[in-house]
Amino acid sequence: MSRLVVVSNRVATPTETKGSAGGLAVAVFGALKDMGGVWFGWSGDVVSEAVANAGPNLEVDGAVTFATVGLPRRDYDQYYRGFSNAMLWPVFHYRNDLAVYERDEYAGYRRVNAWLAHKLIKLLEPDDIVWVHDYHLIPFAEALRQQGVGNRLGFFLHIPFPSPQILLNVPPHEELVKSLCCYDLLGFQTATDQTAFHDYIVRHVRGTVGPGGQVEAFGRTLRTGVYRIGVFPDEIAEQAERYESRQHVLELKESLEGRKLIMSVDRLDYSKGLVERFRAFEQLLEKAPEWRGNVTLVQIAPPTRSDVDTYQQIRQHLEYEAGRINGRYSGLDYTAIRYLNQRYDRLKLMSLFRESQVGFVTPLRDGMNLVAKEYVAAQNPDDPGVLVLSCFAGAADELTSALLVNPHDITGMSEALQRALSMPLAERKRRHQASMAVLRENNLGVWRDAFLADLRGVPPISEPAPQP
Ligand code: F6P
Repeated sequence: MSRLVVVSNRVATPTETKGSAGGLAVAVFGALKDMGGVWFGWSGDVVSEAVANAGPNLEVDGAVTFATVGLPRRDYDQYYRGFSNAMLWPVFHYRNDLAVYERDEYAGYRRVNAWLAHKLIKLLEPDDIVWVHDYHLIPFAEALRQQGVGNRLGFFLHIPFPSPQILLNVPPHEELVKSLCCYDLLGFQTATDQTAFHDYIVRHVRGTVGPGGQVEAFGRTLRTGVYRIGVFPDEIAEQAERYESRQHVLELKESLEGRKLIMSVDRLDYSKGLVERFRAFEQLLEKAPEWRGNVTLVQIAPPTRSDVDTYQQIRQHLEYEAGRINGRYSGLDYTAIRYLNQRYDRLKLMSLFRESQVGFVTPLRDGMNLVAKEYVAAQNPDDPGVLVLSCFAGAADELTSALLVNPHDITGMSEALQRALSMPLAERKRRHQASMAVLRENNLGVWRDAFLADLRGVPPISEPAPQP
């Protein structure tokens, strides 16, 4: 079988793949381990030009080669902090108001993609299949094609694909879509994302969409499909149970003194709806005084991308809200919101989810949101907690047994919290069983295998890259 080459902006370390890695790393590493292959991308380090050019740095672990490069400061600023995270990320999450477009950052984004492609080519074998992940790497296939690569190239978008009217806000939208068309297979998280891409193809570049999601545009033919990323729910359940009696869980339980617990875990990102979530919790305490002093919200929000202005602003805003609400409702022996800007080990988190009565996951937009799936999987089936989930998370398409809320409706969310906290055991069990059945059916292995089977099914290439 052909070798798999995975390309993503960040590459997990061999140690991370064995313990605390998240869903994507678990899935990708599982496939690489089975098939043998290469995982290529940025090391996460900012380095001198000389060090960057000397890379990639290779680390072999079993059948897997981890190949990483550092980025010089200017590349990091333009490609990662700039165009990827100050332009594409906000627009793809429907926050045009937060987007900042700089031509030189876009040029840097394309330049880094071409440079990364050039680095990868030296490691590529003719029948490797290449699976590229996420919005940082939209032009990657085009760069490979321009350098003569004919391998099968697949791309999976982990974040939403915006509707065409939103995408038009990215000045080089057509170039980006043309670049996407250099892949052989494009994978989306939901049918909504796939449809948005098709709409753009049909309305804006007069391409066609045929049966099975086949797209013809810019002189190329490619396939598109929906592949819902999942988790391995039974492994999570087992891990959560195994960690149940560990020190950190016992300490949490003791500190709660019998109070109910609402848990939320997100990267500190404005797309996660954290301010609205805090206000919904505040409204619960305001309108249902019986919960004052009797329920705690634990929000774990490790900071990311903290050199992007909008991330500094959301952090300040949230600190203000947490302080304000705690000032109003905490007591000498009770903190209403425990707000932690720290990263927690994933296995620890699963056991904390199991202790909580409510999982509160309310992004304003999200490609999938694996925390929602992990929360369900980590529950004790004999006494499960309730998931309150945003209808704008990709996971809402599958987890229809959760309490679905609109994250802009503060009152609706506070009512859902109230309902979740008071839900009878029989109903909680029924909802949990239904959600677990979906998670098992669409588990992480299904996502990975379906995408790779479709990519293998693509006829080897052929056509040159579309001309500029
Ligand atoms: O899920 C979107 C994503 O950008 C992934 O590609 C990435 O691994 C994750 O969020 C974390 O983002 P960052 O690498 O910018 O911290």
